[in-house]
Amino acid sequence: MIKKPRGTMDILPEEVSSFLHIENTARSTASNFGFREIRFPCFEATELFSRGVGNSTDVVQKEMYTFTDREGRSLTLRPEGTASVVRSMIENGRCSGLMPDRLFYLINCFRYEKPQAGRSREFFQFGAEIFGSAFPLADASLISLADSVISSLGISDTELHINSIGCPSCRPGYRDALVKYFSSRSDELCESCRARLNTNPMRILDCKSPVCSEISQGAPRTLDYLCDDCRTHFDTLCSYLDAQDIKYKVDPSIVRGLDYYTRTVFEFICPVIGAQSTICGGGRYDGLVSELGGPELPACGFAMGITRLILAMKASGAKDPDVRTPAVYFATLGEKARACSLSITRKLRERGIYADCDTMGRSLKAQMKYADKTGARFTVILGDAEAESGRAILRDMADSSQTELEIDSIADFIAKAESI
Ligand code: HAM
Repeated sequence: MIKKPRGTMDILPEEVSSFLHIENTARSTASNFGFREIRFPCFEATELFSRGVGNSTDVVQKEMYTFTDREGRSLTLRPEGTASVVRSMIENGRCSGLMPDRLFYLINCFRYEKPQAGRSREFFQFGAEIFGSAFPLADASLISLADSVISSLGISDTELHINSIGCPSCRPGYRDALVKYFSSRSDELCESCRARLNTNPMRILDCKSPVCSEISQGAPRTLDYLCDDCRTHFDTLCSYLDAQDIKYKVDPSIVRGLDYYTRTVFEFICPVIGAQSTICGGGRYDGLVSELGGPELPACGFAMGITRLILAMKASGAKDPDVRTPAVYFATLGEKARACSLSITRKLRERGIYADCDTMGRSLKAQMKYADKTGARFTVILGDAEAESGRAILRDMADSSQTELEIDSIADFIAKAESI
């Protein structure tokens, strides 16, 4: 038997309703904040990610699904959405359009990681990006969107952790301090981190190896090295979060695993869902647009993992979206009745009513049992006599009350009962 690749998932109809609920909530909340949906390819030139996400990140070094196409081009299944959105902004000339440009996306992503609860190789993200504003007002409104989506989903027990990792003017001082600190214990670091010590020492801070993360605990903190502008940006953002009554914790250990961040970084953590507890991560990336060949254009964004949101909803006891049940089921007996059930269900469905009838050739008793199992609100027993006379009896399954009706007026009756 052929099985699905390790780290991927089948999303069965029972779970699709949770996905749809999250996607609908994300879409409507984002649009209230002025965001518009963008779609882009699920594979891109490999260079987009190696330059955008950063060559020395775990994502690029260890986790990308990269392949060569028939023309010898190196392509990669997207490990995230930000680099693609930036590419699309540049390629479509949107960088000189009306600002702020606020975009959101619902995408699948691919990372070759060790699968566990809340971590898979194909996973799903809701992401949002704001282009054009360098002011902490943008960071604050972005965090407000993430917070609104999480609370609209009924997720409680989350903590917002924020930090600032500085900008190109204060980074060199911090980098020197890091190199000094890690050099004293370089022989204990993993092989990748020993190489990172010279190329990108900040990436040692998010290495997943237990020894490196233990050493990182005592490393210098970005917040102690911020320049005046970065300090003011961070303090102002905190005051804007206070103004919206959004609770947060300043957490100097948040550095994020992708290279493009400048200044603000943040994560929403839901500790009760286990080791993979970050349900949302994001931050500011003022240098990425120019790094990828566009103009200087400040930006910030976040992405949430949809399967982690589902785990968090379950842990919070959030109500699952209602599964749709048939408004009416037509049980049939005889050939004329069968033809009549097809035509009447078609008319009902055209009016937006969920109507069902037998397609299995079952006995009347088995049809009634089936109607009960699917939770149909009303049933109609149609025999050839009913099909000929044009009248039938509609039974309310909740209280067994019966109403005799013209078959042609069943649609009006059900539409009224269902308030359609
Ligand atoms: P990220 O932190 O790599 O950031 O991913 C964002 C979220 O995607 C994580 O917080 C997590 O909920 C989910 N996620 C990541 N990897 C997996 C996985 N293997 N399995 C399940 N869920 C996962 C980014 O992707 C950035 N592009 C976010 C961003 C947008 N920054 C600025 N704009």
